[in-house]
Amino acid sequence: MRLSALMMTALMLATSPVLAFDLQAHRGGRALWPENTLPAFERALDLGVDTLELDVGVTRDGQLIIAHDRHVDTNLARRDGKWVEGVQPTWHSLTLAETQAFDVGRIRPGSAYAKRFANQMPIDGTTVPTLASLFDLVKKRKGSNIHFNIETKIDPTAPGDSVGPETFATLLVKQVRAAGLEKRVTIQSFDFRTLQVVQKIAPEISTAYLTIIDPEESTVSITGSSPWSAGFDPVKHDGSLPAAIKAAGGAIWSPYHPNLTRELLKEAHGLGLKVLPWTVNDAADMKRLIDWGVDGLITDDPATGRKVLGR
Ligand code: G3P
Ligand code: CA
Repeated sequence: MRLSALMMTALMLATSPVLAFDLQAHRGGRALWPENTLPAFERALDLGVDTLELDVGVTRDGQLIIAHDRHVDTNLARRDGKWVEGVQPTWHSLTLAETQAFDVGRIRPGSAYAKRFANQMPIDGTTVPTLASLFDLVKKRKGSNIHFNIETKIDPTAPGDSVGPETFATLLVKQVRAAGLEKRVTIQSFDFRTLQVVQKIAPEISTAYLTIIDPEESTVSITGSSPWSAGFDPVKHDGSLPAAIKAAGGAIWSPYHPNLTRELLKEAHGLGLKVLPWTVNDAADMKRLIDWGVDGLITDDPATGRKVLGR
């Protein structure tokens, strides 16, 4: 009797959209493989993670592609065998066919980015994938229950660099529904506008509110208002960021990990929010945050994440 109850619980956890502890491969695990590429996602699946974290944009012809920067990245892109130089177009200004001219399978040698991820294995000949191709890849792997944490790359201060929040969210929801993956996808964004649209048109898809407070690139203002917050500023909630996210209808808060304190985690949990900090790459930080009780970790280095979790 006891055993069958245990087996039932294990089965429920294996098939539930709610993960017990969520280990996420950030950009597919860019400490190990070229970021946001199909070979990286495939290897992260082989390694054993719970969720693939990825960034999406929309091409000129309305296709969802997986790329982090809004512009073609000079640290990642080669064309006809040569590194691209200088000011680059936005992915949004290119058609899907035009995006396929770039090889994004290795980091530019000698760059600060290459030094930061010195152990990344290059996979030359890799192009920017479509979101549809990632969904196809995962579907071919029968039995995979992988989840997806999909970030809309949109900047309210640079409206010409992408489609607007309404169009972005609508396209993404349509693709997720077409793949039947509503229960395995979270849509995340620093731009709360897209999350508001998702919550309105697709309440069955979970949303995660990304935040960063940093002297160089804050998306949140504790004392004023931010264009990223869609009106849900902490100042309206006694200065509490978790309370602002709760008021926005969020279920998940993903803070920049140095911004997270034990007290804030407790407050967020008290409000019923799940907390998934990014991007945690150091084993000691992982251990500390797990000890505090975070609900998951978004990491560039899922191999270290697995070791720390004892998997
Ligand atoms: O999941 C959160 C994290 O991906 C946000 O940072 O800049 O790597 O997209 P970024
Ligand atoms: Ca991201």
